[in-house]
Amino acid sequence: MDTKIYVTYNDIHQAVKRLAERVKESGFEPDVIVAIGSGGFIPARILKTFINRPIFAVGISYYGIDNKPMDVPQKIQWIDEVQQKLTGKKILLIDEVDDTRMTLSYCLEELISHDPDEIAVLVIHNKKKVKGAQFPKEITRYFAAFDVEDRWIRYPWDAEDINTHDDLAASSRS
Ligand code: G4P
Ligand code: MG
Repeated sequence: MDTKIYVTYNDIHQAVKRLAERVKESGFEPDVIVAIGSGGFIPARILKTFINRPIFAVGISYYGIDNKPMDVPQKIQWIDEVQQKLTGKKILLIDEVDDTRMTLSYCLEELISHDPDEIAVLVIHNKKKVKGAQFPKEITRYFAAFDVEDRWIRYPWDAEDINTHDDLAASSRS
């Protein structure tokens, strides 16, 4: 039995819309969106439709550019030239999944070192599991569209055949 969770572009779009509504209802008004690549890029662009703020992209991965696994997250790309623009700002950090929380926490620590006013975290999926790292204490706002079991999630942007992917998503629902 295939226990993977199949997610469509439509699912992502609707989830991001609901998340944006929750952010607005919370009273949090971000100055900038920071997207963690690569999984956070497409959700960030959808988010901009509902919360129209500039997007800064950061690339962080446990896999270096030579695709070798590392012990700590590696910066593939960082916003050095604009980091001073984060000081005193309200940041909305977006990624597709909160899994071990290691990448997210590393990224948050880096962003906090630039003295922003506030940072909120937004993810599509939060995996219910023991996390390998905790959020820094400065993080008081956290929005997850779905809390899911610790299963592998198949995102549409990873699909080599999007029609087959969408069929699998549909049949997993019926
Ligand atoms: P976290 O802080 O967000 O929990 O990230 P963690 O370090 O645990 O995740 C390591 C990598 O594994 C991340 O990708 C994350 O997107 C990916 N990942 C974790 N669970 C799933 C899943 O269920 N499905 C898919 N498709 N990916 C998952 P990355 O190495 O940062 O690269 P990228 O894929 O975002 O480019
Ligand atoms: Mg990712």
